[in-house]
Amino acid sequence: MGLHPAAMALRLVSGPRVAELPEEPTSGAQAHLEAIASQVRACVLCPLHQTRTQGVPGTGPATARVMAVGEAPGEHEDREGRPFVGAAGRLLTQLLEEIGLSREDIFITNVLKSRPPGNRDPLPEEVLACAPYLDAQIEALQPEVILVLGRHALQRLLPEAPGISRAHGTMIHRAGRTYMPCYHPAAALYKGGLLGTLRQDFQRLQTHLQHPVATPAAASPALAPPAPADEQLGLF
Ligand code: URA
Repeated sequence: MGLHPAAMALRLVSGPRVAELPEEPTSGAQAHLEAIASQVRACVLCPLHQTRTQGVPGTGPATARVMAVGEAPGEHEDREGRPFVGAAGRLLTQLLEEIGLSREDIFITNVLKSRPPGNRDPLPEEVLACAPYLDAQIEALQPEVILVLGRHALQRLLPEAPGISRAHGTMIHRAGRTYMPCYHPAAALYKGGLLGTLRQDFQRLQTHLQHPVATPAAASPALAPPAPADEQLGLF
């Protein structure tokens, strides 16, 4: 079994062990996603496997146009083996339904596939060890838009981006992919004022999906404050 390119790159720069993933899908995106899920469930690459109940690879169809990436499983997700099934998940489901999507339409996953004890923030070495799983899921899915939920997902997927308070609600093109950062739904549960902002950002996602724009091959030049509609902004 060959080493996934992301894993290979990480091996060069890092001490921690990282996942070894198949280089090519054996029979299409669904089979590849299932292979990744099996590896996540068996993963022992970081100490989180000692405290988790189970790995949480992600859920959703291989044909999903949208992939949502959160931070890490919490208590409910750890127990059920599915992402976003607690209070933040209920809000995510509601926000999706408000723009005409059901959570079954999209692929939902996290930066970390195992729960950090007490829901503490992910450690850099955990993010590094888990990185090839998320990279391989993105590669298998080829989503039209990656919904980046909160600052940890933003830091992992777009490390050069400004903070979530500036980046949210903008369509960011990088390396042939389109990302839309937004606040994490859990943040809106604690800070009710963010709910309206989240709703607006989800409406931008809806507009984007209704009027798809070809993703520029190159990143767009500069990031501006949140755009009023489906304006194309970039970072680098
Ligand atoms: N549930 C998840 O699966 N991920 C989060 O980031 C928060 C809650």
